[in-house]
Amino acid sequence: MKRVVVAPGDGIGPEVIPPALDVLKFFHPDWEYTPVYLGYECWKRTGDALSDKTLETLRKADLILFGAITTPPDPKYHSVVLRIRKELDLYANLRPVFGEGFDILIVRENTEGLYSGIEWKEKDRACTLRVVSEAGSRRIAKFASACANRRRRHLTIGNKANVMKSDAYFLEICMEEAEKTGISIDKKYIDALVLDVLQHPSRYDVIVTTNIFGDILSDAAAFLEGGLGMLPSANIGRHQALFEPVHGSAPDITGKGIANPIAAIRCVSLLLKYVGERPLAIEVERAIQKTIAAGIKTPDLGGTATTDEVGREILKNL
Ligand code: NAI
Ligand code: MG
Repeated sequence: MKRVVVAPGDGIGPEVIPPALDVLKFFHPDWEYTPVYLGYECWKRTGDALSDKTLETLRKADLILFGAITTPPDPKYHSVVLRIRKELDLYANLRPVFGEGFDILIVRENTEGLYSGIEWKEKDRACTLRVVSEAGSRRIAKFASACANRRRRHLTIGNKANVMKSDAYFLEICMEEAEKTGISIDKKYIDALVLDVLQHPSRYDVIVTTNIFGDILSDAAAFLEGGLGMLPSANIGRHQALFEPVHGSAPDITGKGIANPIAAIRCVSLLLKYVGERPLAIEVERAIQKTIAAGIKTPDLGGTATTDEVGREILKNL
């Protein structure tokens, strides 16, 4: 039995999470499911985007299925996603990107770097502190090296060590940890790396990098798969994990019923892998592929199907 907390969030979150939840419940009807209300809409209604009570519920979860959250440009509002990642110490953000002839796993450090949240405004400038700690770097380096060791044994370290001392430190620690496992190691400057991943995706296995670089790299890599509606991510901590699509709340298509639910459904596939049910995860992916091959696709993939139609077809194909 697993305790699953479900947080649909804002925008298209409440549209793509139900079909994903249907898939999970198809395999595990007897797990405990607890919905929680959080995010920008919650903030507008209650003045609190993430209440202490909700945070406690999240802490007790084994697994969290998360939609998306709107982060408005309001200085009084702080990102809920960043806060949850920090509070629950979900230090490894995994973003798999795969397709015809390539299979990449982006491992993004998830708790510090430029998203440390340590920032302040002065009279004529604003500062954000980029924090790269030894402990933070070492655990993500270990995690990524172990992933590579189980896959094709190749690790690329995305960095900007030529410009930033904080990245030189990150690189040094990643090299140390990767060398212990005997996998092949490659270092690349992040700007050139983004282009090379798009041009030659088959050259890559696991890529480890700092927080913001991993954010940008994975959104760019969505290009290889037909867009943001396709990519899932896992945020892994020591005792629990949170699964969320890479995309945001997509206000431009909210309420139209046309959001692509595949990223959210792939989150369920990642979740099943995380709990050791790889054959079920593969079944989910097969059902997705079958649905796409039959031309049942939302408009972002060039189709005319609705969110519900795609969700129902995937469920039918299971
Ligand atoms: P976004 O990912 O929400 O949307 C970017 C573009 O991709 C939009 O044109 C959107 O329609 C499209 N798109 C995204 N998901 C899609 C799907 N499932 N199916 C079809 N099309 C899809 O990013 P944007 O516009 O930069 O941000 C919107 C809001 O989301 C902002 O408030 C932002 O802060 C928030 N956000 C939240 C994230 C999270 O909760 N983890 C991640 C990224 C952004
Ligand atoms: Mg992003």
